[in-house]
Amino acid sequence: MIFNIYLTNLLRALSLALELSDGGLSRHHWRTAMIADRIAMHIGLPHSERQTLLYAALLHDIGAAARWEERRNLYTHQPLPDLKHHAEAGYLLLKDSRHFGAMALPIRHHHDYWDGSAPSGLAGRDIPLLSRILCLADTVEVLLRDDVYILEQRDGVMARVAGERGTKFDPELVRALEELAQQECFWLDLSNPHYYSTFFQNTYSFGQVYLNIDDVLDVADIFATIIDRTSRYTARHSRSVTEVAAFLAEVKGYSESEVKMMRIAGLLHDLGKLTVPNAILEKPGRLTEQEFSIVKQHAYYSYRILNEIDGFNIIAEWAAFHHERLDGTGYPFRIGKSSLRLGSRIVAVADVFAALAEDRPYRAALGLAEIEGIMSRMVAEEKLDEDLVHDLFIHGELAVSLARGEKASKG
Ligand SMILES: [Fe+2]
Ligand SMILES: [Fe+2]
Ligand SMILES: [Fe+2]
Repeated sequence: MIFNIYLTNLLRALSLALELSDGGLSRHHWRTAMIADRIAMHIGLPHSERQTLLYAALLHDIGAAARWEERRNLYTHQPLPDLKHHAEAGYLLLKDSRHFGAMALPIRHHHDYWDGSAPSGLAGRDIPLLSRILCLADTVEVLLRDDVYILEQRDGVMARVAGERGTKFDPELVRALEELAQQECFWLDLSNPHYYSTFFQNTYSFGQVYLNIDDVLDVADIFATIIDRTSRYTARHSRSVTEVAAFLAEVKGYSESEVKMMRIAGLLHDLGKLTVPNAILEKPGRLTEQEFSIVKQHAYYSYRILNEIDGFNIIAEWAAFHHERLDGTGYPFRIGKSSLRLGSRIVAVADVFAALAEDRPYRAALGLAEIEGIMSRMVAEEKLDEDLVHDLFIHGELAVSLARGEKASKG
């Protein structure tokens, strides 16, 4: 199976999962990408480098995605956050990826200072140009406020930038930004959410990329790593769900490429968890009603984000409907059995199974007999698909070793 996809489309969607959220999504990565691209155009950066810069900007803080506090500090310029940790973590996440590898180095150095005073010790032109642009774009984005009219912010932002010319920032890039900053449209575009999609559509001229299904699996794997880092209790949850779901898909006669699609759905099913504070995910004991309502938004964001990617509509349904229940009492879409595809039911069964087989802040992992008891009750209450649960417990021991990562399913 081939995904004929604009890489911008894929990254623009996935970058939303990296945004800190107290009640919705911020746009730090999108707007950093817009600022960086305007600077790149202004200085006449070659097409291919402009492309890499855009992609790197869309993922630049990926190394901080799993820790809510770290992200908050970065996006709000708290005093002296540890800037090296997330830059290095982002580099390590991406460096071996076939399609994303080129973004690793620019991300590693995106908080280096022109004067060499950052921990890496690189200075001046030894810092990759794309990193220097990212550093400037990132700073401008963080300085922007939503509660002040954008053109009234211009002088203040530019004064801050000018104050760090030659220390933090490359002086030539500051000059380029000063030229750009004279255009009202530079600022108005940044504060106009309706313009964002036009911006991204214009960058589609960078061309379509053909990703085969293994490439997409590779991307999904990177995100699964971050998702699972959100809590020590879910250290391998995405992978457990993936193995169990792939196994059930095989049992149900899915083709080889469908099983791979199922793996992508399993790896990304909790993508929206990145919008839930770690303190809630790790809370020992019962969640309050308000905390639980925040947890519920994770499946919503998994769906909305995945559904933005061309060719992902089935994967989005399989992945994000994992908390829907046959009797319509699940969340967040409250879809009942008449509209729940087999693939979505598979991920739901795999998710419950994997969760019960894992430690949680409030209980230890359960044994097979206990898991079977709970899941049989869920079948009787019309929550989970009976045939799938039956199939799973025919191979109960195998399913446990799949969920624990002791065995991998074939597909
Ligand atoms: Fe950063
Ligand atoms: Fe940033
Ligand atoms: Fe979930």
